[in-house]
Amino acid sequence: MQTNANDSTSAESFWENHYRTRPAGEARANPLLAETAAGLRPGAALDLGCGAGGDTIWLARHGWQVTAVDISRTAVERVLAQAHRLGLRERVTAEQHDLADGFPAGEFDLISAQYLHTLFALDRTLVLRAAAVALRPGGVLLIVDHGSTAPWSWNQDPDATFPTPDVVAAGLDLDATRWAVVRADMPSRLAHGPGGRSATVTDNVLVVQRREGRN
Ligand SMILES: C[S@@+](CC[C@H](N)C(=O)[O-])C[C@H]1O[C@@H](n2cnc3c(N)ncnc32)[C@H](O)[C@@H]1O
Repeated sequence: MQTNANDSTSAESFWENHYRTRPAGEARANPLLAETAAGLRPGAALDLGCGAGGDTIWLARHGWQVTAVDISRTAVERVLAQAHRLGLRERVTAEQHDLADGFPAGEFDLISAQYLHTLFALDRTLVLRAAAVALRPGGVLLIVDHGSTAPWSWNQDPDATFPTPDVVAAGLDLDATRWAVVRADMPSRLAHGPGGRSATVTDNVLVVQRREGRN
C-alpha cells in the first residue's frame, strides 16, 4: 500500500503530523505481538515503525531489551518518555530512523513489523528481508499487516489493498534452509477504538524463524 503520496508532503512530515495531532498517552500493545512474544524467551527485540510505543513498552515490561525506530521524532520521544515514566528506560533504545534510508544496526531475537504501512515510497520487501537477515539463530520475525482496517483507522482509502501473508512470504523469497515460515494466516479479531467503538478486523500474519546453527 504505497499509493496516493501527496507530493507536497514528505513521509516524515506526514507521520510527524499524525502523532503530534494525537494526544500522548499509554498505548496498548498489539494483540498478535503480545501473543507471539509471550511464547518466546526474552532477548533483544526490534520494533519497526514503533508508533505510539504500545508494543515496545509491552516488550520492555516483559524483560526484552528493545530497540524502537520510527520516522516520527514525536513518536520516538513519546516512547522514551513512557519508558522513563514506567522505570523501563534502561530496557528501551528509541531513535528516529527512516527505514527507506537503511536498516538499523544489530542482531535480534525478535523483530516486529506491526502494520508497517505507509502512503509513501518504502521498499518494504527490502526492509523485511533485511529484518530476516538481522535475526539471530532461532530468532523470530513477526509481520502483521492489515487485512482490513477499522472505521477509525488513519487509512480510509476504499481502494487500499493489503498483501496476504503468502504474498509477503513470496516477496521475501527466503532460502528455506536458513529460514522457516512458522505461521501464515489471516485471523479476525474485535478491535477497540476511540470513544468506546469496536469493529471486527482481519490481520495478515506472517512469522518467519531463522533456523538454529550457523547458516
Ligand atoms: C500504521 S502505523 C503502525 C504503528 C505501530 N507499529 C502500531 O502498530 O500501532 C505505521 C508506522 O510506521 C512508521 N513509518 C512509516 N514510514 C516509515 C519509514 N519510512 N521509516 C520508519 N518508520 C516509518 C509511521 O510513523 C508509523 O508509526
